Amino acid sequence: MSRSATPSRADEVRAVLTNYVSGMTAQSIVRAAIHQVGVPESTFERVGLDIEILNEMRRSIALYVADEAKKAACFERLTSLLPPRSSLRHLPPGRHASHELSKAIDVIIQDENGIVDARTRARSFAADVGFRSTDQYKLATAVSELARNIFRYAEKGKISFGATSPRKGMFIIAKDDGPGILDVSKVLSETYRSTTGLGRGLQGCKKLMDEFNVETAPGRGTTVTLRKFL
Ligand SMILES: Nc1ncnc2c1ncn2[C@@H]1O[C@H](COP(=O)(O)OP(=O)(O)O)[C@@H](O)[C@H]1O
Ligand SMILES: [Mg+2]
Repeated sequence: MSRSATPSRADEVRAVLTNYVSGMTAQSIVRAAIHQVGVPESTFERVGLDIEILNEMRRSIALYVADEAKKAACFERLTSLLPPRSSLRHLPPGRHASHELSKAIDVIIQDENGIVDARTRARSFAADVGFRSTDQYKLATAVSELARNIFRYAEKGKISFGATSPRKGMFIIAKDDGPGILDVSKVLSETYRSTTGLGRGLQGCKKLMDEFNVETAPGRGTTVTLRKFL
C-alpha cells in the first residue's frame, strides 16, 4: 500500500470498497482482480483501475454486496475512478516488451503462472494489433478459457497467437496432446452448459470470436483455432 501523503489511485479504489465491504474483503477483491487480469501489483498501486480490473471486481462485488442499490452505487463510484481513456494498453506492459507483430508468440501452459502469462500477453498483443479495449478483453478471456482447459484436462500444452493477414486481426491456437474431447459435438451443442470460467467454456470462446474450429479425437489431443478481426 502507498505510504505517501496523497492517496494513490489504488488507495482510492480501496477506500470506495470499504464503504461496502470490510477492509479485509476489499483487499481480497483487489488482489483477486489484479491476479486474474495478470497485472503486477506494483503497476496497480501506481496506476489504479483499468477497465478489465474493474470488470473482475464487479464479479466479486456481486458476490459480497447483497443489496442491489448498494451494489450499483459501489460499481458507479468505482467506475468514476477509471482514468479517462482506460485500457491496459496504457499500463506499462511489465515484463513484456512491445511485440513485433510479424512474430507469433508461444506460451507453454503447465501451471497457473502460464495461464496468467498467456492471458496478459494476449491482451497486450491484441492492443498492439489495434483492438479496442473491449475486444482486447474478449481475446484475453478466450485465451484464458483455452489455457484453463489445457491445464485442467490435458495438464500441458501450448497457446500460440499472432497477427492475421491480409485481413488485420489476431489468431489464437491452443494445442495439447492430452486425452482429447470425447464427445465434441455434445460440448458444442446448445444444451451443454459450461460451469467454469469467465468466458463460459468453448461455446463462450466461439461467441467472443469471428472464427472458431476444434480438431480433436479421443487419445489424439486437442487443437482449438480462433480468429478475430479488427
Ligand atoms: N483441451 C482439452 N482436452 C480434453 N478435454 C477437454 C479440453 N477442453 C475441453 N475439454 C472437455 O470439454 C468439456 C467442455 O469444455 P468447456 O466448454 O471449456 O467447459 P468446462 O471446462 O466448464 O467443462 C470439458 O468438460 C472437458 O471434458
Ligand atoms: Mg473450460
